[in-house]
Amino acid sequence: MKVCVVGGGYVGVTTAVCFAEMGNEVKIIDIDKEKIDKIKKGEAPIYEEGLQEMMERNMERIEATTEYEIDEDIIFICVGTPSKSDGSIELKYVEAAAKRIGETMKDGSIVVVKSTVFPGTTQQVVKPIIESYGKNFGIAMNPEFLREGKAIHDFMNPDRIVIGVEDEETANILKKLYEPIKAPVLITTPTEAEMIKYASNAFLATKISFANEIGNLCKILGIDVYKVMKGVSMDHRISPHFLNAGVGFGGSCFPKDLRALLAGSRQLGYEMELIDAVLSVNERQPLRIINILEKYMDVKGKTIAVLGLAFKANTDDVRESRSIPVIRELIRKGAIVKAYDPMAMENMKKIFPDIIYCRSVKEALKEADACLILTDWEEFSEPDFSVMKRKIVIEGRRVLKNKEGITYEGVCW
Ligand code: UDX
Repeated sequence: MKVCVVGGGYVGVTTAVCFAEMGNEVKIIDIDKEKIDKIKKGEAPIYEEGLQEMMERNMERIEATTEYEIDEDIIFICVGTPSKSDGSIELKYVEAAAKRIGETMKDGSIVVVKSTVFPGTTQQVVKPIIESYGKNFGIAMNPEFLREGKAIHDFMNPDRIVIGVEDEETANILKKLYEPIKAPVLITTPTEAEMIKYASNAFLATKISFANEIGNLCKILGIDVYKVMKGVSMDHRISPHFLNAGVGFGGSCFPKDLRALLAGSRQLGYEMELIDAVLSVNERQPLRIINILEKYMDVKGKTIAVLGLAFKANTDDVRESRSIPVIRELIRKGAIVKAYDPMAMENMKKIFPDIIYCRSVKEALKEADACLILTDWEEFSEPDFSVMKRKIVIEGRRVLKNKEGITYEGVCW
C-alpha cells in the first residue's frame, strides 16, 4: 500500500519505518528540513532500538519531504500535541496538518489520526477541517502504545491494534494494512479509540501512584512494598507490571496525558478526582526523598550526588523526569549538586546549566555528603561508595545490590 506519515517525531518515524518494513511504500512529511535531510540520507533522526538498521534496509521504500503533495491512499497524522498551560492539549499542529492534507490529498483517501488527542477531536476537529476542502475521504483514529526506547518492538509486537472508524470500508483497509502484525484488532468508533489511549495511560499511571501510596505507608510500617506488591500481583486479576514503587512517573506521555484528561473533563463539567489524586501523589513523591535526606543533615552547603537524570533507564530523555523537582529543591535549599547520568546529561544541562556534571558514578560520589539514586540504570546497581565523605544513600528507584557499609533508605521502602 502507499502510506503517507505526517510528522517525523518518534511516533511518526517509527510508524513510517515499520510500515516500510512490512513492504509498503512510505512517504514522511515534516516541516523540519534538517530532520527530512537526515531521513533522506538514511539516518534515523531519533534514537530508538533497532530503528537505524530497519531504516537502512527499507530506504528504497521510504521517501522524505518537506512538501505537502499527497498521492498516497492512507495518511497518518503523527504530529505532536503538547500541553497548554491549563493542561489541555495544543491542537495547532494537528489542525495545520489537517489543513495541508485537505488541500493536497486525492479523493477517496483515508486520513488516520495517530497523535494522542482528547476524545472527540478526530470527528469534531480533524474531520470538519478536511471536509471543508470538499474531498471524499475515510476518517480513522488509531492510537499508538509505544514505549520510548522500545518503540520498534512495541509497534511490531503490540498487545492489540485499536482502529476507530465510522464505516466498515475504512476499517477493512486499515485491517489489511496491519495484517502482517499478529495481534488482536479492536474496531471502535474514533472517539472510543481516542479514549482507549488516554484510559490506558491513566490506568498504568494509576497503578504506579497506587504502588507509591501503599509504599509510603509500608515505609512508616517498616515493611517492604516490593514484597507486598509481589504478593498482591500473584492474584491473576492483577498484572505485576507497573507496580514498582519509587519517585514516581515521568516521560513525555503519562504526566501530559493525565493532565489533558483532567483539563478536558473539567471543560465538560466533570471533575476526575481519581486522576487528580494520581497526579498529586506523583508530584509529592520525588520531594519525599528530600524529606528523608533532611533527617540526616541540613542540606545547605552540602554536596549531594544525584545519580540518574533520565526519566527512565536506557533513554536520554529528561522530559518530566522526577530528578528535575529533586534537583530544583536541592538548589533552592542551598545544596551543591553533583550529577551523573550515562546518557541524559546534555539534555539536563539545558534545564540546570549550573550544577556540576560528572563523567562517572565515582566522580559524582567523590567527597559527597549523600547520594540520591533517581533512575534505574543498571550501572547504578553496584557503585563504589567508599569515596563518599558520608555514606548516606537514598534510593528513589530500586536498583541497588550492594548496601554494605552505607546508611541506606528507600524513598518508600
Ligand atoms: C509510556 C507507556 O508505557 C506507553 O504505552 C505510552 O505509549 C507512552 O507512555 P514511556 O513514557 O516510554 O511509555 O515509559 P514507561 O516505561 O511506561 O515509564 C513511564 C514512567 O513510569 C517512567 O518514569 C518510569 O520510571 C515510571 N514507572 C514505570 C514507575 O515508576 N513504576 C513502574 O512500575 C513502571
